[in-house]
Amino acid sequence: MIHTKILGTGSYVPNQIVSNFDLEKLVDTNDEWIQSRTGIINRRVTRGENTSELAYKAAIKALEDAQVNAQDIDLIIVATVTGDYPFPAVAQILQRRLNCNTITAFDVNAACTGFIYALNVADKMIRSGSYHKALVIGAETLTKYTDYEDRNTCVLFADAAGAMVIGKAETPHIEKIVTYAKGDLEGLLKMEGYPLKENFKTPKQKRPFIEMQGTEVFKFATSVLPEVVNTLINETEYTMEDVSLIVAHQANKRIIDKSARVLKVPIEKMFMNIDQYGNTSAASVPLAIDEAIRHHHLKRGDVFITVAFGAGLTWGGAMIRY
Ligand SMILES: CC(C)(COP(=O)(O)OP(=O)(O)OC[C@H]1O[C@@H](n2cnc3c(N)ncnc32)[C@H](O)[C@@H]1OP(=O)(O)O)[C@@H](O)C(=O)NCCC(=O)NCCS
Repeated sequence: MIHTKILGTGSYVPNQIVSNFDLEKLVDTNDEWIQSRTGIINRRVTRGENTSELAYKAAIKALEDAQVNAQDIDLIIVATVTGDYPFPAVAQILQRRLNCNTITAFDVNAACTGFIYALNVADKMIRSGSYHKALVIGAETLTKYTDYEDRNTCVLFADAAGAMVIGKAETPHIEKIVTYAKGDLEGLLKMEGYPLKENFKTPKQKRPFIEMQGTEVFKFATSVLPEVVNTLINETEYTMEDVSLIVAHQANKRIIDKSARVLKVPIEKMFMNIDQYGNTSAASVPLAIDEAIRHHHLKRGDVFITVAFGAGLTWGGAMIRY
């Protein structure tokens, strides 16, 4: 039986920091409101670097950490809803930029759950025996689709990339991955694409932006986050005591706080870096995992749960021994 494990991780955030005070100058909001309702203080906003550039910089670090050559990668999956172009995919741009061989490379769209979906697909492709080493990335430039006249959304979203190299293992490390979707709730969090034209000669179209029913998304998130954690505990041999850390999608500190209360786990078990990065969608989970490792919250052999939720609506999680 083929098992899989994390060989290395890396992440990259743009240099430009946008604080709550900067946003006070754009919309009717204030630092106190944003911090108390979301836990966000700063977020990173790209200046000139598109999604593939953020992904490339995170990928280089993950390959270095894994001590794997780009030529040894035979699968690239990028989770993103903000690719540079509708096509080619970010994964294909990366295949060229990393000088990889002629390999399988594609993007996955499951919004903020995207990285968990991408990890699930890569894990199963390696377990099939057809692939050996995969580069799995979550990368987003959400700020290009954020309306800086809408205070409901512009305080939340930001740009980043996180990467992971996974490969075959003698013993199980990536123990279980679950992914779910419920399309009938799509209206709660959505970005319209370009609509069909009235007729083919219609010259200009309105630019689409992210739209969200925040309170409903909050309720959804606080229900599925503990649910996924419990599913992973119930369907593996591990107990909550075995789990060193829960690395949840960084959407709102209050979502993570409430989930910890529901799960009856100490808040120290919930990794958080939302204060400095905001919600970076598919990049959030791999960025958080990489930071948890760099800051010694996770060491080799530790068992952790990662969990995410987002537009679609989608949700999912994984039980992993690092
Ligand atoms: C968006 C969110 C922070 C709003 O917090 P909330 O406590 O639910 O606040 P509400 O939406 O009930 O709004 C309360 C008031 O604050 C106002 N408000 C909204 N954004 C504001 C802002 N940035 N600054 C100041 N006031 C704001 C609202 O207009 C509302 O005013 P009203 O009572 O006069 O109508 C919260 O609902 C949330 O985080 N939801 C989940 C969003 C999410 O995670 N999305 C991504 C999922 S991947």
